[in-house]
Amino acid sequence: MKKIIINGGKRLSGKIKIDGSKNAALALIPASLLTKDVVTLENVPDISDIHEMLDILNILNVSYEFIDNKLTIDSSRIINTPLIKKNIEKIRASYYFMGALLSLFQNVQIIAPGGCKIGNRPINYHLNGFRKMGINVNEMDNVFNMSYVILNNTTIKLPFPSVGATINLVLAAVKSDNIIIIDNISCEPEVNQVIDFLKSCGARIKKIGHNTLIIIGTAKLKGTTFKVMNDRIEAGTYCILAALLGDNLLIEGINKDHLNSLFTILDKVNADYFIKDNIAYFNKSNLNNPFEIETSPFPLFPTDLQQPICVLGSFLPGQSIIYENIYEDRIAHIKELNKMGADIKIFQNKIIINGRTPLFSNKLKAKDLRGGAALIIAALSAKGTSLIEGVNYIERGYPNIIQKLSNVGADIKMEDS
Ligand code: EPZ
Repeated sequence: MKKIIINGGKRLSGKIKIDGSKNAALALIPASLLTKDVVTLENVPDISDIHEMLDILNILNVSYEFIDNKLTIDSSRIINTPLIKKNIEKIRASYYFMGALLSLFQNVQIIAPGGCKIGNRPINYHLNGFRKMGINVNEMDNVFNMSYVILNNTTIKLPFPSVGATINLVLAAVKSDNIIIIDNISCEPEVNQVIDFLKSCGARIKKIGHNTLIIIGTAKLKGTTFKVMNDRIEAGTYCILAALLGDNLLIEGINKDHLNSLFTILDKVNADYFIKDNIAYFNKSNLNNPFEIETSPFPLFPTDLQQPICVLGSFLPGQSIIYENIYEDRIAHIKELNKMGADIKIFQNKIIINGRTPLFSNKLKAKDLRGGAALIIAALSAKGTSLIEGVNYIERGYPNIIQKLSNVGADIKMEDS
């Protein structure tokens, strides 16, 4: 089993480069299939979730080449194979093959999606949206069978601006010869990437106002080359680390517009940084205020940074508060942080962090992706040598994290016993 060993307490300096967005790339891979042509995606992060998605392409007889973050996909010979192999339920984004294969073949058989254990994570918004479009949805033993003859022209109002449901419904609608309106869509940058990608393939998708999409089905979509945006959650994770330990630490590949909610918090806690072009420069910070955060859909504070920023709260005076409004069980990191000396309490979705509690090394266990990142930040900030298990979770979304941190002075290594 892989373990990460960290000898903490060191200041970090140098440059960390941000890779492509996991959550954009995971959606763009199934979206590429709609062209039944050759699509090249640039800036694709080399992480285990991407490789899980590529394994699914093999099942569908779709060829690909993935070298130096460039992914070329040829779906001209795609076959609508049932996606019921166990490994498919490892990741959440497998559900995008529902929309893609429904668009291509008007039917799909696929096992229910998995993903990090951070809450119940149902897919009812996806399924009810499919049904509204006229798609028959049946589920038996955790496998979905869906099919339709023709879609309805319809308007779907999402109960919540769900990232996954927005993307999945767009994928299902975009090749039909119908007009589908989706209201209360997610405005996350990753969703905009999928819409921009599909429009570059010839799709007719129009945004009306702030959160309504009109999709006028386009029978033929053509191949294209598309650059994946940088990962705003990877960037935010390293900026939180830089606020704690940076001393002339540069985070390159930042899109400030994607992280305004985080930078507002870093300003509040008196982090010493400035942003020029796409680089955030962090000097040694004298952190001196607590924060209060409500996790919410973009452009407000992202739930994916809730776990990393919990660590920052331990190093601030007074009481920092986080209301986790998106996932009811995104708290597995808190027990681990408290083992290190943190003083964090939870009341329903309210996380209370009593600050200025120095952290001490310990043996830790990551139980999900962003919680694992939080444990790395905590171990780097703590005195002594920590050991972190559950590395497989971290490898899902943080490319080359050991190398990136070693390059800026962290005493960190991976052991594979
Ligand atoms: C995407 O998950 C991301 N994952 C998540 O990132 C991210 O936290 C989330 O969006 C919110 O931004 C990927 O893109 C692969 P949602 P998704 O549908 O699409 C509930 C990470 O760490 N809901 O916006 O699953 C759901 O349970 C991961 O990179 C329903 O109730 O998120 C959650 O409480 C973690 N029914 C809320 O809505 C549904 O049908 C937001 O979910 C769908 C969602």
